[in-house]
Amino acid sequence: MSEILNLGVNIDHVATIRNARGESHPAPLRAAHLVAKAGADGITAHLREDRRHMTDADIASLTTEIDLPLNLEMAATDEMLKIALKHLPHAACIVPEKRQERTTEGGLDVVGGQNYLMPIIRSLTDSGIRVSLFVEADMLQIDAAKNLGASVVEIHTGAYCNASGILREQELSRIKKAAVHAAGLNIEVHAGHGLGFDTVGAIAEIPQFSELNIGHFLIGEAIFEGLDSSIKRMRSLMDNARATLGGER
Ligand code: PXP
Repeated sequence: MSEILNLGVNIDHVATIRNARGESHPAPLRAAHLVAKAGADGITAHLREDRRHMTDADIASLTTEIDLPLNLEMAATDEMLKIALKHLPHAACIVPEKRQERTTEGGLDVVGGQNYLMPIIRSLTDSGIRVSLFVEADMLQIDAAKNLGASVVEIHTGAYCNASGILREQELSRIKKAAVHAAGLNIEVHAGHGLGFDTVGAIAEIPQFSELNIGHFLIGEAIFEGLDSSIKRMRSLMDNARATLGGER
C-alpha cells in the first residue's frame, strides 16, 4: 500500500474562464496560491498545442512562483519537450492529444508509440523530470510504460466516472487490477480524469495509488462553494477512504 495519497489539482479551467474574455482575470497563478493554501500537494497544468487554456507564460509563472511541485501535462512532441526542458517542472505527464477533442479522451498508446515515446521519456528523465504516462487500465500499456522507463503510470478514470451501475463496477474492477499490476512492476501508480465527490472514494480506497489528479470538478464546484472549500472537501473524502483501509498493507 502507498503510505501517501497526494492530491494534485489541475487548474486548466481557471485559464479557460480567463481566456473566454482574452484578458487576465481570473489568473491561474492566483488560483495556484489558493490551491496550495487549501492543502493540495501539487499543481497540474496541461499546455495544449492549441493553447486553449494554459499559456507558455502560465507555465513559466507556475514553475517559478509556486512552491508546490508542478505536474506538466504535455503531448509527446518536440515543441512540448523543448518547453519542459526549459522550465524543468517537477513532473511531466505525457498524454495523447487530439486538436478536436474537448478533453483528453483516452489513454496513450504506449505499445504502438514506443519509438517516438522512448527519446522523449529519456530526455525528460535525464533532466530530472519525473515522467508519467497517462494510460487506460490495460496491462499491456502498463508493461510498455515500464519497459520504456517511465517512473509513473496515471490510470485514466474517465470511463469509470462516466459509467453507472454494473458498468461502473466493471470499470472499477479493471482499474483495481491495473493498479495492482503496475505496483507489482515497481512503478508508481496515479489516477485521474473525471473524478468528483461521488467517485473519488472508491478510487482513493485502492491502496496502490499515491496521487490523484483532479481538475474540472473542483474548479466547477468552486463556483458554488469556493475553491478552498471544494479542495478541502475532496482532500477529506480521500483521507476518509484511506482511513477505512486501516491496517491493510
Ligand atoms: N489527469 C490527466 C492526465 C488529465 O489529462 C486530466 C485532464 O486534463 C486530469 C487528470 C484531470 O481531469 P479532470 O479535469 O476531469 O479532473
